[in-house]
Amino acid sequence: MKSFSKVVAAFAISALALTACSSKTQTADDIKARQDIMQDWRISSDIMKGMTEKPETFDAAAFKEQADSIKASTDHVWSHFADAANKGKAQDAVWSDAAGFKAKADEFNAAATALSDAAANAQSANDVSAPLGKLGESCGSCHKAYKQP
Ligand code: HEC
Repeated sequence: MKSFSKVVAAFAISALALTACSSKTQTADDIKARQDIMQDWRISSDIMKGMTEKPETFDAAAFKEQADSIKASTDHVWSHFADAANKGKAQDAVWSDAAGFKAKADEFNAAATALSDAAANAQSANDVSAPLGKLGESCGSCHKAYKQP
C-alpha cells in the first residue's frame, strides 16, 4: 500500500507539471479532454451565475456541487496542455510563455478553491458572488492571452 500511494503521489505531481514531457504519450485526445472540461466549466459557471443573478433561486447544495466539480478538475485539466503539438484553439503563447500560462492556471486553481470554500458555508448568493466573480475574471484573463478568439 505504501509504495502504491507513492506511485499515486508521483503521478499527481507529474500531472501537475506543465512542461512538455516527451516520455509521456500525448495525443490529440488531450485537446478534446481539455475542451470538454472547459465546456463543463462554462455550464457550471452559468448555473452558478444564474443563482447569483436571481438570489431567490440560490440553492446552497446545488451551487456547491458546481463549484466542487470545477475545483476537482483543476487537478488534471492543465496536464492536457503538456504537448505543444496539440494546439487546438490555444495560442502558441501557452507553450512559448509557459511560465505565464502556469501563473494563470495557478491563479485559476486558487480562485476555484476559494469559491468551493465559500460555497461550503454559504447561506445566500451574497456569500458567493464575490468569489464567483473572481473565478469568471480568471477565465477571461487567461483566454485573452492564451486562447484563440
Ligand atoms: C489558464 C488558462 C485558462 C483558464 C483559467 C480558463 N481557460 Fe478556457 N480555454 C483556455 C484555452 C487555452 C482554451 C483553448 C483550448 C483548445 O482549444 O485546445 C480554452 C477553451 C475554452 C472553451 C472552448 C472549448 C471548446 O470546446 O473549444 C470554453 C467554453 C472555455 N475555455 C471556458 C472556460 C471557463 C468557463 C473558464 C473559467 C471557469 C475557463 N475556460 C478558464 C484557457 C483557459
